[in-house]
Amino acid sequence: MERERILQQAEEFVRQELGGDSSGHDVWHIERVRRMAERIARVEGADVFLCALAALLHDIPDEKLNASPEAGMKKLTDWLDAHDVEGDTRSHLLEIIATMSFKGGNRPPVRTLEGRIVQDADRLDAIGALGIARTFAYSGAKGQLSHDPTLPPREQMTAEEYRQGKSTAINHFYEKLLLLKDLMNTDAAKRIAEERHRYMEGFLERFLAEWEGQM
Ligand code: ADP
Ligand code: NI
Repeated sequence: MERERILQQAEEFVRQELGGDSSGHDVWHIERVRRMAERIARVEGADVFLCALAALLHDIPDEKLNASPEAGMKKLTDWLDAHDVEGDTRSHLLEIIATMSFKGGNRPPVRTLEGRIVQDADRLDAIGALGIARTFAYSGAKGQLSHDPTLPPREQMTAEEYRQGKSTAINHFYEKLLLLKDLMNTDAAKRIAEERHRYMEGFLERFLAEWEGQM
């Protein structure tokens, strides 16, 4: 297995699979997560190749892009079979991606440094200026409003109201984006997250002030 070649082939696969996606998993998201994972891996002394490959493939089994979680994982394992990714690299990669794509509260903790790094890189892409842009793009694609001051905050909504799309881009900051800073695993990611978090707070303050006509 030649590493450079595997990475190039993974890039090609991701372009084919996610090329037209507008749910926030476009190829540029993947490219940014890959670069960020490599950067953190160097700082943390982790396996840069494994982080890059896991970052490239991390959204392939995502539930939003597949009929079922099993179908998504099969797409990934078929690709690994076809490209002779075997042994420890394969099992480590599958472990990272399977753990990362768990949604909700009962997520098992990510076990290895490489897994923690790719998770950090993915989460960093959801905050800061990029996170703001992705959130508004996603909300638009789902037909949600940017903001609706008459809506209750997420924690006061029923699950049914929430499923019906009665949320907004601004709500998403409170239900997710502002919580991510404290979920970072590595010190390198924590430092970047602090800065991006402050930027989002400044944005929200300004957005709500303009909304109220104060600026
Ligand atoms: P990830 O690749 O981080 O797992 P998700 O699939 O959860 O991302 O979401 C893709 C992008 O869309 C992220 O930037 C996320 O913050 C944003 N997003 C997810 N759910 C919502 C929502 N309900 N409203 C607005 N933006 C959302
Ligand atoms: Ni992602």
